[in-house]
Amino acid sequence: MKIRVFDTPREAGIYVAALAEQVIESKNHPVLGLATGTTPIPFYQSVVQLHQCGLRLSDTITINLDEYVGLPASHPHSYHYFMQEQLFSKTDIKPGNIFIPQGDAKNLDEECERYDEIIQTHPIDLQILGIGLNGHIGFNEPDDLLLSKTHIVNLRDKTIASNARFFDKTADVPKQAITMGVQAILQAERIVFMAFGRTKAAIVAEAVKENVRTEVPASVLQLHRNVTMVLDRECACALPELNGRCENG
Ligand code: PGA
Repeated sequence: MKIRVFDTPREAGIYVAALAEQVIESKNHPVLGLATGTTPIPFYQSVVQLHQCGLRLSDTITINLDEYVGLPASHPHSYHYFMQEQLFSKTDIKPGNIFIPQGDAKNLDEECERYDEIIQTHPIDLQILGIGLNGHIGFNEPDDLLLSKTHIVNLRDKTIASNARFFDKTADVPKQAITMGVQAILQAERIVFMAFGRTKAAIVAEAVKENVRTEVPASVLQLHRNVTMVLDRECACALPELNGRCENG
């Protein structure tokens, strides 16, 4: 696993956007696996900037990790809405090339199957990932088992509490989500895993420590041959091998 530590999330976002540009420029139909949340925002800002400087995304296919169950695409807290705001409306990505699970599908089991077919049809060249405070990737929450396929998940209290910051009140946070499974994530050709800030330092250190553990879902990334971990200094502090490069180091 490669580790790159930046002074700020902004600088990290520029770096990850440059990695994405290499993928976009090297393929006829590049496939990006995309994430939501606060973490990837600097990355999206930099991709938008690259687009304004001439990078074409019209042949790029995007496949998002997850969506809340029950929220329509038009809901301001849905991940459909987030992606429109952060990236899609600001670039030339074609609507037909955008894939996000339908959280308001009538038949959620069928939607999970449909999504797995989409992932198999469009193998992911570059998967962008964040990490939850409890170690989740996508919405693959800590559990006795990690599921390989796209599935419906009951969100853990810690996830609901953390995501409540986007909603008016905690009670408004959906209790379930539809998420890509760990198999699809691990099948990606390359993974860029981003985490910023002191609050993520401990869980990032857990994710890279020794064995793969289902109670720290991000630890499965240890099994992938091409992962780049992109951190800021605050987040890198808990990694023993990076002490010299952390904020107070
Ligand atoms: P965050 O979420 O970027 O908003 O911290 C990350 C995640 O839950 O995967």
